[in-house]
Amino acid sequence: VAVVVPAAGRGERLGGGLPKALRPLAGEPLLVHAVRTLAGAPSVDRIVVAGPRDQLDVVVDLVRHALGDGPAVTVVAGGESRQESVAAGLAVLDESVDVVLVHDAARALVPVEVVERVVAGVRAGADAVVPVVDVTDTVRRVLAEGGSAVVDRAGLRIVQTPQGFPRHVLVGAHERARRAGGEPATDDAVLVERAGGRVTLVEGSTDGFKITHPADLAAAEALLTARGSQ
Ligand code: CTP
Ligand code: MG
Repeated sequence: VAVVVPAAGRGERLGGGLPKALRPLAGEPLLVHAVRTLAGAPSVDRIVVAGPRDQLDVVVDLVRHALGDGPAVTVVAGGESRQESVAAGLAVLDESVDVVLVHDAARALVPVEVVERVVAGVRAGADAVVPVVDVTDTVRRVLAEGGSAVVDRAGLRIVQTPQGFPRHVLVGAHERARRAGGEPATDDAVLVERAGGRVTLVEGSTDGFKITHPADLAAAEALLTARGSQ
């Protein structure tokens, strides 16, 4: 089982002048939190981080210091889009890998249980496994003809990572997407779905939220404090 960690984004919405994966959370970069959890997941054998192209040395040092003798970690240069960053990570996986997870560095506090649930789903035969949580806000759809309509949120789910796939399925879906061109996708399951695969949902965790805006970083700090005092 290998995990590709897209970590090459600029973090424009978070701000602060550093790529998001390198922004500190309780004294350590987001990437370190994410990679440490993945390395501690019993199923995970190797990790590939797609880091910001101009800070690869920093990323290599960080993961080395964070993991020591943990699973093998490779660092590659990410691309212009998340999709390209994931593809760069997939490109260095060898044939012996049969399950690939893709996990956003920005979801730094995902619990290890979610990682294991996703791996189990792939092992059970799914083409794509996606952790989800319920929608807690009321949601409205803006209509093309003007106005808006409330959407029944009971039927909606929020998509998280890690998402899991048989390696050959994800590699094939990325290859197909690269040839097709167009707007890059914001997650990997959609690429597998476009290639004809079925998406299986499993229970995610509210702790797996994506750190996007400054308030999310504050929430993540609070969550770590709460975990530390349990
Ligand atoms: N990502 C990546 N390569 C890119 C863009 C994004 O590896 N070219 C990664 C990010 O590092 C992050 C994940 O994809 O771990 C989800 O992206 P997002 O939350 O949008 O992060 P950023 O693109 O860094 O943030 P922003 O969109 O605010 O600039
Ligand atoms: Mg982005």
